[in-house]
Amino acid sequence: MKKGLFVSVLMLSFMFLLAACGTSQETTSGEGSEAGETEEKKTLRVVTDAAYAPFEYQDKGEIIGFDVDFIEAVAEEAGYEIEIEHVGWDPLFVEIKDEIADFGISAITINDDRKQTYDFSVPYFLSTNKILVPEGSDIASAADLEGKVVAVQAGTTGQEAVEGIMGKNNKNMKQFENNNLAIMELTSGGADAVVADNTVVEEYVKNNPDQKLTVVEDADSFASEYYGLMFPKGSELKAEFDEAINKVLDSGKYAEIYNEWFGSDPDIENLKA
Ligand code: ARG
Repeated sequence: MKKGLFVSVLMLSFMFLLAACGTSQETTSGEGSEAGETEEKKTLRVVTDAAYAPFEYQDKGEIIGFDVDFIEAVAEEAGYEIEIEHVGWDPLFVEIKDEIADFGISAITINDDRKQTYDFSVPYFLSTNKILVPEGSDIASAADLEGKVVAVQAGTTGQEAVEGIMGKNNKNMKQFENNNLAIMELTSGGADAVVADNTVVEEYVKNNPDQKLTVVEDADSFASEYYGLMFPKGSELKAEFDEAINKVLDSGKYAEIYNEWFGSDPDIENLKA
């Protein structure tokens, strides 16, 4: 053991010497063959909009959430280090398109529109839009949103769903840069409802009982959606991450993380359908 260490140190010193002399070729790659276990992992830049609890949000300056734990498990499986950065919702799309980021995770729904510009991983979460309203509201279905003031996060499937009901450019649809601002508009009396992903509004109601809000479901009006990792088109990472996601789903790791955040078991079969 000791001897091995000595030899390693010796080898390392020699490599530094070589590098210093300028005679070395590609001694910095790290992906190479030497020593085996200490193989350096590549760090990927992952972007998010960390204002969407419980998927991604900031807690004392740290980004946490289901998505964070999930992607850390997946990246580990795929053999990458990741650095998650909060850039906001609109910038996230720009950064991925321009390949400034390697991919995004942000409760992003896989849909045909986005597929024209981006590649998505296999699905990792099932979602649908629901309506957040004050207790006692007369909004009991999506159709009831007509004539009401509705707050949404701009550029989300929630906005799209509301447009489907109220029409495009409806002045009664208020758009916000992030979903927390949309909810604040509701709680401060500037809107009658918020439409956003079910898990987000359900968690909000649960965690803020004093605000006396409730969630309205309308499965006929709001489709089922699946979240995926969003890559630049043609990214070679997609295949590696698909494989890693499937491993995390099959190994029980996904269920463990899901349970930690939601206190119940996930329906994995539904995800893989
Ligand atoms: N799932 C919805 C969509 O993709 C909303 C996602 C919003 N995510 C966020 N981190 N703000 O449009």
